[in-house]
Amino acid sequence: MDEGFKLFPDQASTMAREVDWLFYFALAVGVFFSALIFLLVLYFAVKYRRRSDDEQPKPIFGDVRLEALWTVIPLGLTMVMFGWGTGIFFKVNRPPANAMEINVVAKQWMWKFQHPTGQREINELHVPLGQPIKLTMTSEDVIHSLYVPAFRIKNDVLPSRCTTLWFEATKPGKYHLFCAEYCGTKHSQMGGWIYVMEATQYQQWLAGGAADETPVEKGQRLFTQLGCATCHQANPTARGPSLHGVFGQQVKLKTGQTIVADENYLRESIVNPSVKITAGYEPIMPTFKGLVNEEQLLDLISYLKSIGAAPSKEDKK
Ligand code: CUA
Repeated sequence: MDEGFKLFPDQASTMAREVDWLFYFALAVGVFFSALIFLLVLYFAVKYRRRSDDEQPKPIFGDVRLEALWTVIPLGLTMVMFGWGTGIFFKVNRPPANAMEINVVAKQWMWKFQHPTGQREINELHVPLGQPIKLTMTSEDVIHSLYVPAFRIKNDVLPSRCTTLWFEATKPGKYHLFCAEYCGTKHSQMGGWIYVMEATQYQQWLAGGAADETPVEKGQRLFTQLGCATCHQANPTARGPSLHGVFGQQVKLKTGQTIVADENYLRESIVNPSVKITAGYEPIMPTFKGLVNEEQLLDLISYLKSIGAAPSKEDKK
């Protein structure tokens, strides 16, 4: 690291500035009121000091206007923080529809990335500038957390669940990525770099590396190998629901509940199929727990997403 000491990391994503402004605001409010309280304590200590030994101060029995004032002002300020923070929270948690999908598998003690075109990387990730990137993440062992300070993004990476992050880089360069959840002996070494490149450079970089089977291709192969297609067919009399266009759609369950078929639902339906049964179907699907590893689960999900370009999804945006 030759960056030297910096009070703030680079602002290298579309989110960075907004997150920082909210932080500065909260900081300014905190500093202002701390200073005010300190100064008033000093001022009142001098102003109301006891001037003679027999001096008895007049008792005070409260003041409704004062009570109202110091309730309303903090309420207003915290409401501003709440509204502002919620706005950013939603933005951070909603990847744009045109985001490029990168699969991430964490394990003790490394980060494994796979590009939609098949290229793999470990502890390094090359991404194009000005393109929203969505990371779909899972862990092979314990809880990790992916943290890129320059992008102001961080999210836990969990075993047995998918979590996501998204960012759009705004500045070419090399940015630190960290594991931000203590995960064992080499937690502190579980980090790496994100390289942000111009789009053409990124294409060159892609062309320079050997591309593996893409996640979609591998998912499709697994889908056939594991026999998923024998039950999950498009015809209405099939034993399993059709999975075409299922991703991102509302699914009606046997219980009457309606849920959105996101990454976690698909993942759960593969390893724990009896938990959420689609309405109109029997709980006959066997579990694939232990038969597919975390990366293969992500591949299957990538495949289901690829056949899931439901036409209505775009319209809803
Ligand atoms: Cu992985 Cu800390």
